[in-house]
Amino acid sequence: MGVELEPTKTYDLDAAPGYPALVDPFGRDISYLRVSVTDRCDFRCVYCMSEHMAFLPKADLLTLEELDRLCSAFVARGVRKLRLSGGEPLVRRGIMTLFSTQSRHLATGRLDELTLTTNGSQLARYAGALAANGVRRINVSLDTLDADKFRAITRWGELPHVLAGIDAAQAAGLKVKINTVALKGVNEDEFPRLIEWAHGSGMDLTLIEVMPLGEIGRLDQYLPLSIVRARLNERFSLQDTDDRTGGPARYVCVGETGGRLGFITPLTHNFCESCNRVRVTCTGTLYMCLGQEDAADLRKPLRASEGNELLFAAIDEAISRKPKGHDFIIDRRHQRPALGRHMSVTGG
Ligand code: 5AD
Ligand code: SF4
Repeated sequence: MGVELEPTKTYDLDAAPGYPALVDPFGRDISYLRVSVTDRCDFRCVYCMSEHMAFLPKADLLTLEELDRLCSAFVARGVRKLRLSGGEPLVRRGIMTLFSTQSRHLATGRLDELTLTTNGSQLARYAGALAANGVRRINVSLDTLDADKFRAITRWGELPHVLAGIDAAQAAGLKVKINTVALKGVNEDEFPRLIEWAHGSGMDLTLIEVMPLGEIGRLDQYLPLSIVRARLNERFSLQDTDDRTGGPARYVCVGETGGRLGFITPLTHNFCESCNRVRVTCTGTLYMCLGQEDAADLRKPLRASEGNELLFAAIDEAISRKPKGHDFIIDRRHQRPALGRHMSVTGG
């Protein structure tokens, strides 16, 4: 065990002369990097993990120092937004060190945004430190405001801890967006209440269609957001907006609350043409598309030398293979997902 990183040692990668910004074969700028910093989590959400997960051995994980090098390499090549995810990023020991070292790119102006997706369980403890490291906005996953239901969905989670975490985040000045996975027969009756609660506290809310990832992909809980939207339309006046964050969410404005409501529909809607993102797992595997298996190992070039030539070469080669679009096929005959990996591997 022991300390993984000397906080003062960072790589001077603020620029990479001779290396151009990353652009894929379809002309899309790769400006958004999502990094899963751990496959572990203190929850076991039914749509994400099985109850008895086998986690990776520590030697397979990138160290915090390697994660810093990797993120900095992408920033040097034009990434302007960095999101840390998991598993649950805040359960990785020493993770504030990575926020702290990456915040130097905010200071130089090379990075526009440093953020994270969290389940909120540890937020009460870390909100202040996140804000101090330049984090301005965070996404908190929350599917229900009913404590019993919360336990049923997350298996191990306690709603009051998450609500306290959200309060702490707002008190620290962080802007919070709530992500809610829509689950048929589980939380579908709660969306109006969730919207009113979130918007009443100054938070956007995004509904996410459940994705069939991993062995536990719950097709029986699949609820198309087209249905959800039609129902919400009867209750609220939803006005379309042009807001796009470069990602898959479509936003509407809710007349009654004045707040923003997002819809992420990976299965029924195609958003690939504006895709500006790639993902790295906690073992340093680069996925060019969430919906495809093709990947590149960046851990090997990271560990092969102190310099970044090999790493840049591996990244360039991978980006040249970024596919035009994804292909979530639900194999209905076998009732199983087309993709074999868990969400906690690629971090959503
Ligand atoms: N389908 C949709 N969203 C998922 N998440 C995890 N697993 C799935 C899935 N199978 C979401 C979490 C969180 C983010 C990290 O990914 O709820 O919002
Ligand atoms: Fe943890 Fe998020 Fe997966 Fe739930 S969805 S088990 S909080 S990583």
